[in-house]
Amino acid sequence: MKILVTGGAGYIGSHTCVELLKCGHEPIVIDNFCNSLPESIARVRKITGRDVVLYKGDIRDAALLEKIFSEHRIDCVIHFAGLKAVGESCVKPIEYYDNNICGTLTLVDVMRNHGCKKIVFSSSATVYGTPEKLPLTEDCRTGGTTNPYGTSKLFQEKILSDIYAADSEWTVILLRYFNPIGAHESGLMGEDPHGIPNNLSPYIAKVAIGELPEVKVFGNDYPTKDGTGVRDYIHVVDLAKGHVAAIDKVKESGVYVYNLGTGVGYSVLDVIKAFEKACGKEIPYVVTPRRDGDIAECYADPSKAERELGWKAELGIDEMCRSIWKWQRLNPHGYKTEE
Ligand code: NAD
Ligand code: UFG
Repeated sequence: MKILVTGGAGYIGSHTCVELLKCGHEPIVIDNFCNSLPESIARVRKITGRDVVLYKGDIRDAALLEKIFSEHRIDCVIHFAGLKAVGESCVKPIEYYDNNICGTLTLVDVMRNHGCKKIVFSSSATVYGTPEKLPLTEDCRTGGTTNPYGTSKLFQEKILSDIYAADSEWTVILLRYFNPIGAHESGLMGEDPHGIPNNLSPYIAKVAIGELPEVKVFGNDYPTKDGTGVRDYIHVVDLAKGHVAAIDKVKESGVYVYNLGTGVGYSVLDVIKAFEKACGKEIPYVVTPRRDGDIAECYADPSKAERELGWKAELGIDEMCRSIWKWQRLNPHGYKTEE
């Protein structure tokens, strides 16, 4: 299939391009590089030995999207492009809603103009707000998001569902990711956040390499096994494969929602320990107050994806940490190394 991958140069998008190519699909990438570099696509080419058509530009640029859809017979869109920093979204709500909501609206309008009505959307466990029960199933209540980023995901899910309600030829696949971490086993691709990382695993990696002095553990007084926050960390390569499974398995039109997680929760201290094992060094940490907006525990029931897509996460926390450490060691400056 010819697949337009928006945000394909980003962390999850680039790993997904590799898996798409391995399965014989043809990804065409559009990315404005606001949070990535073209080097990630060069690495996709290096790993797969295949070319990837790359358009530099913004998904809010309808003329550019028209050009792409005119130049290629796109069968399906995987829509990763978006801004994703929770804290930043509270400071820049206009930019977040503009990028994420207007971007999606421009995209689906052009898709409709060209009769392309199949979209896989990057949603997030954040749409569940504070979990009503654990593990989270797809029919759990959504809402109660606490930041514009999360709310934009909720709105985008609703917009895409309404599009199907108005035109039943659409296929809308909403993939709710839990906590993607890890890197490609080659060490050529991984997460490359700009500045000081907001998320736990890239932060630990920077401490391990000596760029940051210590991990700040945001609270150890949660009602969890060791008092620190528990999350469902999923290897980015497993997550990427989940997209291929979704495209291959969902043939009928409709709205489909899947949790992509492992079903296993690890605490902050578990992740630090697993990382110490992977890098063979002690990771210094200090406990600080809780971070605003954090919940105690969040993990998936991923059985629907296994049942319907035949997809199941295979890689565990040790493989996640080992692959991050390999990526970090081989690319201490991320994708800037070879510039
Ligand atoms: P990322 O920032 O690495 O990738 C997003 C890519 O989209 C970047 O390359 C960025 O340059 C590009 N982009 C952003 N706005 C654009 C625009 N208007 N036009 C064109 N390109 C644009 O992030 P990621 O971690 O790969 O996340 C991909 C998607 O998955 C995002 O929608 C994110 O919200 C969602 N998601 C991520 C996580 C996570 O923890 N990483 C969890 C749940 C959901
Ligand atoms: N944490 C720390 N120290 C840090 C960073 C995080 O202790 O420096 C803790 C957090 O308190 C939390 C856990 O580590 O308990 C994971 O935090 P992350 O910031 O890595 O991830 P979140 O669960 O907060 O959020 C991530 C993405 C969101 C996405 C969500 C669910 O950032 O975009 O997963 O998919 F919505």
